[in-house]
Amino acid sequence: MRNFYEEVQEIKARYPDWRSATLPALRLAQEKHGFLSPNALRECAEALGTTPAFCESVASFYDMFHLRPVGRHLVEVCTNVSCALNGAQQVLEGFERELGVRAGETTEDGEVTLRTIECLGGCGWATIVAIDERYRTHVKPDDVSAIVEELRGGG
Ligand code: FES
Repeated sequence: MRNFYEEVQEIKARYPDWRSATLPALRLAQEKHGFLSPNALRECAEALGTTPAFCESVASFYDMFHLRPVGRHLVEVCTNVSCALNGAQQVLEGFERELGVRAGETTEDGEVTLRTIECLGGCGWATIVAIDERYRTHVKPDDVSAIVEELRGGG
């Protein structure tokens, strides 16, 4: 089985410029470590042949990369214009109440991280909530407790 370094070398070989491998390498590192810890960024930088600061600067630009630990489940509520006009704030507050955390926090048991997120590209189906990267469409405040129950039950 290939190790992380070897996998990144393979990805780099597909492109004329190593920088093109940065996002896939960060993705791999996040999958391996759960989030992009300083150690994960160092490992990524070493495999790419760059600095951890470069990797961190790229990762910090994208919502899908986590520079801090996240829970086993990730709940992301879109709060951009279309979703905001369709009650995203009330949906978000519903999740905050149900989970007992504020946006940006993780439940005490480490199970669920709640975040707000920029437009997820599903504006016509607002409000969009991404649960572990799978979209729920037309989410209303009344749907929140069933979604949380499903999550807690391992659904
Ligand atoms: S504004 Fe929410 S998906 Fe576009």
